[in-house]
Amino acid sequence: MQAYRIKGGNRLIGSIEVKGSKNAALAVMSGLVLVNGTVHLTNVPDLSDTRAKARLLEKFGARVQWEKDNVWIDCSNIHPGEADESVVRSIRTSFYLLGPLLARIGKVVLPSPGGCKIGARPVDFHLKGLELLGAKIELIGGVYYAEANGLRGAEIYLDFPSPGATQHLMSAATLASGATVIDNAAMEPEVTALADFLNALGARIEGAGTSKITIQGVTSLKGANYRIPADRLQAGTYMLGAAITGGDVTVTGVLPEHQTALTKKLGEANVKVTEGSDWIRVEANQELQAIKVMTMPYPGFATDMQQPMAALLCIANGTSILEETIYESRIGHVQELNRMGAKIRIEGRVAIITGIPKFKGATVEASDLRAGAALVLASLAAEGTSTVRNIHHIVRGYQDLVPSLTSLGATIEEVSSGDREGLPIH
Ligand code: EPU
Repeated sequence: MQAYRIKGGNRLIGSIEVKGSKNAALAVMSGLVLVNGTVHLTNVPDLSDTRAKARLLEKFGARVQWEKDNVWIDCSNIHPGEADESVVRSIRTSFYLLGPLLARIGKVVLPSPGGCKIGARPVDFHLKGLELLGAKIELIGGVYYAEANGLRGAEIYLDFPSPGATQHLMSAATLASGATVIDNAAMEPEVTALADFLNALGARIEGAGTSKITIQGVTSLKGANYRIPADRLQAGTYMLGAAITGGDVTVTGVLPEHQTALTKKLGEANVKVTEGSDWIRVEANQELQAIKVMTMPYPGFATDMQQPMAALLCIANGTSILEETIYESRIGHVQELNRMGAKIRIEGRVAIITGIPKFKGATVEASDLRAGAALVLASLAAEGTSTVRNIHHIVRGYQDLVPSLTSLGATIEEVSSGDREGLPIH
């Protein structure tokens, strides 16, 4: 088991280019099985989640070649495969393969998905939508058995604008006969990215980025090149890294309009944010102020930034209120931040955070991806040395975290958990 050892107290200073989006890449990789040909993806983040997705595609007949951030995937010979249950369970988006595979080959057997433990994470919207498109799906012994004799267009209303369900149903509907309309669709940039990708392959999707998406079915999709857009959540994490360490960091290669909720909230907390067409600079040289934050579907404040934001608010002057409305139990970071001296109290889905002057270094455990990010941020700002264990959660979403933070001036290294805890870090 690996861990990060972090000596806190260094201000993060400099510039960092953000890598490709994990969530856009995972959605795009599900859509690949629709393609009778080869797709060349660039700017693909090399993460345990994207590697798992590639292994899963291979089980269904895809040929994958990976070179740095370039991936070529040939899906000419997709066939019903036997997916490895442990790989399927390791990522939530394994389930988004069900609809596209059904559209392409008519019969799929797929174990139930997994992913970060942050709430119940049901798949009922996905199932309802696929059934409206004409699929017959049964869950037997934790495994989905699905069949369709060609999908047909349908009108689908989502009870909640779920990014995953929107992406899944949009992909499946590209090869359905006739038109599909998804109402109350998610508007996240990763949904728009997937629509752009599918349209580049010959799909006919309109309205992505709004709450109503229309898909005119086509008979086949052809190969193409597509660049995965920058990861707004990774960008947000580095922005919070600058804020929490009193630093000055410019994130580059990003679209500032995707970060509006975060930049506004940082401004309210007394952090200076400036931006250009593809960069955002975060300078923190004043006392942080407590604020209120509520997570919302895009363009609201992203649930994925809730835990990292909580770390920042722990050292803001006053009492902050942070409400999580998307997931019922995205609170794995709270107990661990409190081990570092934070004063967070949970009431239902609300975290009440009383500001403290400084975190104190401690040994803490990541319980999920963004909880891990929150602990890394707190450790960067802490007095003394911290060890963040269970970093397998963190490497799901942050490529090259150690060299990236080191280049900004952090003192961080990867160690074997338990090996060197308590030793000074140089
Ligand atoms: N929901 C249902 N039924 C469904 C689907 C969703 O009730 O069939 C509910 C969920 O329980 C939750 C809400 O809808 O309350 C959002 O869940 P959604 O399915 O939309 O989330 P997701 O697609 O599984 C993606 C990201 C998450 C991010 C959420 C919300 C990927 C791979 N994951 O998850 O990212 O938190 O959207 O924006 O795209 C992360 O990167 O750390 C992460 C967890």
